[in-house]
Amino acid sequence: MPIDIISRVLYDGPEVIPGWEYVKVYGPVVAGLGALKYYCGGTTNTWERDMHGKVFIVTGGTSGMGARLVYELATKGAQIIMLVRSTEDAWVVDYIEEMRESTNNGMIYAEECDLASLHSIRLFATKWLDNQPPRRLDGVLCCAAESIPIGKAKQVTKEGIERQLGINYFAHFHLLTLLGPSLRVQPPDRDVRVLLATCASLALAEIDATDLLWENRRYPSKQPWKLYGTSKLLLGLFAREYQRQLMEYERKDKAVCNVRINLINPGLMRTPSTRRFLSMGSVWGLILYVLMWPFWFLVLKSGVQGVQSFIFALSAPIFIKLTGGNVIQECKIVTKVRKEMDDEELQKAVFQNTETIIATLEKQAAIQRKRNEKASEAKMSTKEKERREDVLVKPETPEELEYKLNKLRSQIGISTSSGMPLFPGDSVLSQPAKSKKKTGKKN
Ligand SMILES: NC(=O)c1ccc[n+]([C@@H]2O[C@H](COP(=O)([O-])OP(=O)(O)OC[C@H]3O[C@@H](n4cnc5c(N)ncnc54)[C@H](OP(=O)(O)O)[C@@H]3O)[C@@H](O)[C@H]2O)c1
Repeated sequence: MPIDIISRVLYDGPEVIPGWEYVKVYGPVVAGLGALKYYCGGTTNTWERDMHGKVFIVTGGTSGMGARLVYELATKGAQIIMLVRSTEDAWVVDYIEEMRESTNNGMIYAEECDLASLHSIRLFATKWLDNQPPRRLDGVLCCAAESIPIGKAKQVTKEGIERQLGINYFAHFHLLTLLGPSLRVQPPDRDVRVLLATCASLALAEIDATDLLWENRRYPSKQPWKLYGTSKLLLGLFAREYQRQLMEYERKDKAVCNVRINLINPGLMRTPSTRRFLSMGSVWGLILYVLMWPFWFLVLKSGVQGVQSFIFALSAPIFIKLTGGNVIQECKIVTKVRKEMDDEELQKAVFQNTETIIATLEKQAAIQRKRNEKASEAKMSTKEKERREDVLVKPETPEELEYKLNKLRSQIGISTSSGMPLFPGDSVLSQPAKSKKKTGKKN
């Protein structure tokens, strides 16, 4: 049938095609739209890598591109540890069950690690590092991000950092530096890859190494993307400096560094954060977004298309041979990035200043936590106190349970969970000299 039509078209002209008058008018438009959709869809990864038995920590795996990445890796047999805001969330439980079913992989787990809290990150990292023997780790894939819509008031994390800077940059800095010991002890034959999601908005970044918290500058509520872009550029500077530090680290077995940190720009995608950003977080904006859906469908990538460069950076063997700190976009290494990405001095300064800021904020938060604990203890009635102290009485809250367990642990000589080296400042607050030495070793 098609051959018949083609031969007739060749002999008698295109007019013999049924509905030719419509094809003539609309054909070029449809072809143009198809070409635009194809172009905006980006490049597809062509590399394969066996993921069976590999272990990846993923941030932002519950939504958008991160969810797709979890799906792709789990389908290939990898073990996934997703860092989520709360493991108590019923939605997360359902989500993991569904993901296990759809990928036919039961090794998808969730660990609590709220990126809006430096303390929560430390709790997770300490738990991870406390494992003996050290846990296998083939990569940390950082997809979580926060983008604040235009016109919204400044929002902050638990420690008071502007939310975009806090989650996109400070949280991932904290997580990866705390996980440093785990990254450094992976056997030399393992190819460990750390990937950080970046964005073209880093072109709008304004870096001031002395004002990383953006406190000396007015919060630009009409241009919140400035902070978003800044958080992504800071992440890039961190990747370069941290990679250098890992390369310089002398392993006990004298093996060369087997960790590579790269930055991935997935391109613009139709994900919840894009929807929130384009709809400006308002109902009218959302209605407009829905009305314009055909346009977004044409020009924005799907999660499947967006994740291609991530899969490429995880699979292509070349990356373990290259020094890290590359920006990867459309399954290619991009060489033209911001000039700050080549400024080693700036990268060092930003790294040191970030470390200092995090240490200070953690210390302040620990002091505040202790004060709150004392205040709530003071508010307790004698009856409540008695109930809490009596280990034979059923606890009513998770905190009470933890308290009683710790009491029992100390009675039989096991160290209490609150005695874990979660944060040197916690113990420094009570017994400076002695406990500082003890906890400093593990951290
Ligand atoms: N979308 C784009 O067009 C685009 C373009 C360039 C780059 N990127 C980058 O690509 C990455 C993925 O983007 P996306 O659009 O797919 O993101 P998304 O759908 O908005 O998902 C963001 C993820 O981050 C998690 N997250 C946010 N705050 C958190 C917190 N406090 N603790 C733990 N997790 C938290 C969210 O968890 P919940 O599910 O709990 O909210 C969610 O899983 C981001 O790094 C983004 O910057 C995106």
